[in-house]
Amino acid sequence: GAPIRIAASVLAADFARLGDEVHAVDRAGADWIHVDIMDGRFVPDISFGPAVVKAIRASTAKPLNVHLMIVEPERVLERYRDAGADHLLVQAEPGSTVHLHRVLSQVRALGCKAGVVIDPATPVAWIEHVLHLVDIVLVMTVNPGYGGQAFLPEMLPKIAALRTLCRERGLHPHIEVDGGQDPRTVRQTVEAGADVIVAGTAIFGQPDYAQAIAAMRNASS
Ligand code: DX5
Ligand code: ZN
Repeated sequence: GAPIRIAASVLAADFARLGDEVHAVDRAGADWIHVDIMDGRFVPDISFGPAVVKAIRASTAKPLNVHLMIVEPERVLERYRDAGADHLLVQAEPGSTVHLHRVLSQVRALGCKAGVVIDPATPVAWIEHVLHLVDIVLVMTVNPGYGGQAFLPEMLPKIAALRTLCRERGLHPHIEVDGGQDPRTVRQTVEAGADVIVAGTAIFGQPDYAQAIAAMRNASS
């Protein structure tokens, strides 16, 4: 099939050596750097803010794929754009933003690529009328909030349904998957229609990052 992209999730990196870790996954062949922003409200934990995104920006030229697991992303989109985000991904659920269509338009107006994220319980139909506004649809394959959780196989038919809907509409957003991805699940998610794989533990939990990334690329071909 078509080549897939690997987005290395720095949530699983050694934060005490963050610059080195980002540099290492860049050199190891990651296509994108995935940055999980958690605010302690949409999800229980707090991760990073714009200052850390800026530090990551200084450590790599690869696209920064910034996943906003926060309430009211509309208040801070510009801060993350200014910090160096290339892609801004907002959660589709009303518990994050009340006006999804407007927020996605705002992301594009800021000059970033726009992404919409759907949690495991959120149906594909929820994003049907904003699909034309996005460059990326991210299907969560775990519930958001933590790294290292187990892949939810019941998301496979959902990925396939999204792929079909995009084809019917003549739209070609990236279909990204996030959570519990490893070489074994990559084979299934790519088969279902995903073309971008987020991986935290499956890269940073391995001794050789280049080998870990290659193993996921090979699993999909
Ligand atoms: C989970 C985050 C993921 C997380 C994935 O809420 O959105 O990006 O870092 O971690 P792994 O690959 O370990 O499941
Ligand atoms: Zn994420």
